[in-house]
Parts: sequence; C-alpha cells; structure tokens
Amino acid sequence: MKFFALPPQVHSFDTAREFWREFNIDAGDLVFTHQFIYEAYLKDLTPACEFLFYEQFGTGEPTHHLIDAVRLAISPHNYRRIIAVGGGTVADTAKFLALAGSDRTQDLLEKRAPLVKEKALIIVPTTCGTGSEVTNLAVVAVDEKETKFGLGGDAFYADSAVLIPELLVSLPYDYFFYSSVDALIHAAESLVSPRSNSYTELFSLSAIQMILASYRHVAEHGRESRFSQLRQLLVASNFAGIAFGNTGVAAVHALSYPLGGKYHVPHGESNYQFFLPVFRTYDRLRPDGQIGLLRQAIATSLALLDDREAGSALELLLGRLLPQKSLREYGMTPEEIDLFTDSVLEQQQRLLANNYVELDRACIRAIYEERY
Ligand SMILES: NC(=O)c1ccc[n+]([C@@H]2O[C@H](COP(=O)([O-])OP(=O)(O)OC[C@H]3O[C@@H](n4cnc5c(N)ncnc54)[C@H](O)[C@@H]3O)[C@@H](O)[C@H]2O)c1
Ligand SMILES: [Fe+2]
Repeated sequence: MKFFALPPQVHSFDTAREFWREFNIDAGDLVFTHQFIYEAYLKDLTPACEFLFYEQFGTGEPTHHLIDAVRLAISPHNYRRIIAVGGGTVADTAKFLALAGSDRTQDLLEKRAPLVKEKALIIVPTTCGTGSEVTNLAVVAVDEKETKFGLGGDAFYADSAVLIPELLVSLPYDYFFYSSVDALIHAAESLVSPRSNSYTELFSLSAIQMILASYRHVAEHGRESRFSQLRQLLVASNFAGIAFGNTGVAAVHALSYPLGGKYHVPHGESNYQFFLPVFRTYDRLRPDGQIGLLRQAIATSLALLDDREAGSALELLLGRLLPQKSLREYGMTPEEIDLFTDSVLEQQQRLLANNYVELDRACIRAIYEERY
C-alpha cells in the first residue's frame, strides 16, 4: 500500500515580485488567473508572459464546457509553462491546460482518454482552502448530471506549489471562512480515512491545530484580525492538501457535490453544511476508532476539559465565525432530499469508499433531512 507522496516542490515567498524574479516568469509562460488578481498584484511586474483570465470563459466553479473552451483558446500556442494564480477554480482548470492532446474534458472524466501531462505547471493559491497545489485531483461540475466529479491522476500534480500570503489580502471574509473550513474538512476527513497513516496524520493534525487556533483568534478579535492569520492558514490548507491528497476525502464532499452541482453553492460553503452532521453520525456509529484522535485534537485546540464536548464547541465556534443557512434557503426542494441521496449513492462511490464507517441510505438521507 502506498503511504505517502509529495511530488510538487513547495516554495514560499513574501511577495509576488519575489516569486516572479525567482521563477523567471517570461515569454513562453502563460499565467492563468482572474482579472482582479492581475490588477491587484501582477500588472506592475512588467512581464513578457501572456495572461489569460478565467472570466473570459465564465463565472463560478469550472464545468467541463468551460475547461474545453479554455483548452481550445490556448491550443494554437506552444506555452512552456502554465502558471495558475487563483483559488481551486483556477488551479483545477489549469491542471487541464497542462495536459497533452485535445480530448474533451467529458472523455477524460469518463476515462475514455488518458491523462498525459505535457507542460510544466506551477500553482499559486489565492485562497486558503483546496490544497489543489499539492493534490493530483481536479474537480469539475457536470451541469447535465447536476453534480460534480473529482478526477485523479499523477498528470494532475503541479511541478511547483508556491505559497504567497500577500495574494490572500483581498480575499473577502466569507471566502476566507469557506475556503479555510474546506481545509479543516480535508484534514478531518483525511484523519479518519481508512487510508490515514502516520505520515498523513502529521499533516492533518497540524492543519487542524493551526486552523482552529486561527479561528479562535478571529472569533475573539473580530473579522479584520484575519489578516494576521493568512500566512498560517495558507500553510495549514497546504498541509491539509498534502494529507487528503494521500488519503482521499469522503462523505462530507460526496454529500456536498449535488448541492454544489445543482445550486452552484461554493465548494467550502457547501461542505460546511455537511461537516458536523457527517462526523456526528460517524461518532455515533463508531466512537472508539480514529475519530477519538479528532475529538482530542479539537479539545486540545479549543482548550476543552472533556473531549466529548468537541462537537458542540466546534459548532459554536464555526457559528460565531459564520452562521449556517438551511438547505431550503439555497432553493433545494423536499423531493431533492431523496434525489440527492440517490445521486450520492450512484455517482460518488469513489468518495464513499473513504468513509470512516459505511453510511447507508438511511444515514445519508437523515443528514440531508436534518440540514433541510
Ligand atoms: N483539486 C483539489 O484537490 C480540490 C480540492 C477541494 C476543492 N477543489 C475545487 O476547488 C474549487 C473551489 O476553490 P476555492 O475554495 O479555492 O475557491 P475559488 O477558487 O472558487 O474562489 C472563491 C471565490 O473567491 C474569489 N477569490 C479567489 N481568490 C481571491 C483573492 N485572493 N482575492 C479576492 N477574491 C478571490 C474567486 O474569484 C471566487 O469568487 C471548487 O471547484 C472545488 O470543487 C479542488
Ligand atoms: Fe474540498
């Protein structure tokens, strides 16, 4: 059994300018980013490279149609390196831009065509969430199926992951929270995964500790105090990416995909819906396994005397940072409680295989119902 891999090199710089200089960004490089990231951080670096903006192709998280359109747009050019500067949305799209060939994304998702990497790929995250810069995964929405799919393969590893905290300064509070809660979920799902091991535990436990320490700081000192936590959260989300990149994520992500796919709820916000109910169900079904480590990590980070209070204390802390909506507030209908349950069972077996304990139809349905 393979325990652990970290193929990308991890770099860190204080500023985008230092990164630009060190990596010799120049002609032959394509920088794929958002227009507002370019305006705020990159345009004064006087580069000879080319820029392409996500907004030229669409909004929201990547769909297979959007990825096909971006691949078509760059196909006449022979770029040496793809440099993605953005959150998981930009990073995951860029993973397809580094591939050889012109296969449709749908064919790649359905494994009718192989993933073959052709160009060097550098990923610079601008959210503190996905860890995509160190994983071999890309997540794509398929509107026709009203859900999202993860596709994994070593061709999706970046060559370099570059952490630059200054790029996160413009991240609005809500996305700061939603992306970091996604990282917390990556670390928690990794820690209790059947594939968790001593190597991934190191990264998942550190990520949990760092994220919860930052959350306590922000809960105590207010939203503006998040700026002092960006560096720590960027590293924590990278740690969580290293952990789950080796173990996979599970039910929280599986339940969140129909909601994200149908109602375009951002990834972290959608995961936040299911995080506590999934872990409470795990704890009820099997309290005496690896989940005890998670309870202890939360209890230590939140200075609790009794780890049985971990779930309720965490819920209180997360609610202080950003209250949760109910599923009906996103427009979900009562019939979709069953439809989403079926979608998870039929389409997300890849993720459900990583569950801490098996969740049957009744458990999954009950979680949707509770959040409804
Ligand atoms: N590949 C992986 O391993 C992996 C893991 C988890 C999630 N994902 C995928 O990643 C995507 C979500 O990525 P994300 O959570 O990083 O969010 P995102 O990239 O979608 O960004 C969230 C929002 O913040 C904006 N934004 C990003 N950086 C900003 C900055 N520095 N300043 C101001 N605004 C900024 C974006 O324009 C967007 O509106 C989803 O598609 C999800 O499925 C991938
Ligand atoms: Fe995620």
